[in-house]
Amino acid sequence: MDRLDQAARVGVLMGGWSGEHDVSLATGRAVSVALKARGHDVVPIIIEPEALAEHCDLVDVLRRSGVDLVFLALHGRLAEDGCIQGLLELAGLPYTGASVLGSALAMDKLKSKEMFLLHNVPTPPYYQVKRDDSLTDIEVTHGHFGYPVVVKPRGEGSSLAVTKVHSAGELVLALEDVFAIDDYALVERFIAGAEINVGILNGEVLGAIEICPRRGMYDYHAKYTPGASEYHMPARLPSARYQNVLNLARRAVEAVGCEGAVRVDMLVTPGHNEYVLEVNTLPGMTETSLLPKIAAHAGYSFEDLCEVILTGARLYSPQYRHRHEAPRNSAVRVRRGRRAALPPTPLAPVDEAV
Ligand SMILES: Nc1ncnc2c1ncn2[C@@H]1O[C@H](COP(=O)(O)OP(=O)(O)O)[C@@H](O)[C@H]1O
Ligand SMILES: [Mg+2]
Repeated sequence: MDRLDQAARVGVLMGGWSGEHDVSLATGRAVSVALKARGHDVVPIIIEPEALAEHCDLVDVLRRSGVDLVFLALHGRLAEDGCIQGLLELAGLPYTGASVLGSALAMDKLKSKEMFLLHNVPTPPYYQVKRDDSLTDIEVTHGHFGYPVVVKPRGEGSSLAVTKVHSAGELVLALEDVFAIDDYALVERFIAGAEINVGILNGEVLGAIEICPRRGMYDYHAKYTPGASEYHMPARLPSARYQNVLNLARRAVEAVGCEGAVRVDMLVTPGHNEYVLEVNTLPGMTETSLLPKIAAHAGYSFEDLCEVILTGARLYSPQYRHRHEAPRNSAVRVRRGRRAALPPTPLAPVDEAV
């Protein structure tokens, strides 16, 4: 691990606009405590859901707080999908996690699946339904797809509006749930298999955990209610199959081009099929979340994990790095003089703008 500049001021960004606001607050608080314990100068920054409607200038907030780099503890829409990443690229503030493109591809379940298929990464068969598709359109598209299926939003996480469906009638109801929060739904073949998640940290495949919800699917309740799921670390798979699962997860991450700390959600059948559901580029980071559990087994304490993620904070845009002489990849080297070296504000008069 590269050494971190302890004097760098770290903004931990949490909350946000997605359905995962509360999960993000839990992540942000846990990360802030861990980084403070390691002696970092931490500024927790909570984004309230109203911030968007009130046109809150996030860059201004970040500038005024004097942060040198940003630890992203956000989840979901506008946060895990490349939007915040793009804003931070433009503001010249290095951030943790995947690039604009990697974040956008991974968060979009349809585009991820297209990338998986292009790279021969198995993923459950699927089709998409749009909000304004008619019932007849849906019936025609569904055709002989069969049941059960899983209906889910294309761009949300935390199992929000994810439903197992057994009939055409249930399908319509499940689609209505999705359209309350997204314009697009995915209908996927239901895969009966073990729920396996793989953790990858800056390219190092850490291991695979097995999740056993006490009842039903790994839904919001099973994810966030203490005791609602059992965990087995490492996953109870024969060693050759365990290795296959790790390799497949690595290939899935390559397919969507992500860096940083990622968690790959997979289903592993009693036969010999493995399916990748998704790559999470800003996975939950409370002490009881899955990535920290996987990392602990690989020898990283929660504080270690937070520090290694912070070490990876960077800007991806080469033009920007060149212009501000901010070299790659390390929080140490991207440190700049506070505020003095900030790029010109977009509100500068046109003839002064660079
Ligand atoms: N095709 C499927 N077959 C069986 N279970 C599924 C399928 N898709 C999703 N699930 C269940 O729903 C959970 C959430 O789905 P996932 O695609 O990972 O979306 P999210 O981003 O909400 O976590 C999974 O962990 C799994 O338990
Ligand atoms: Mg998931």
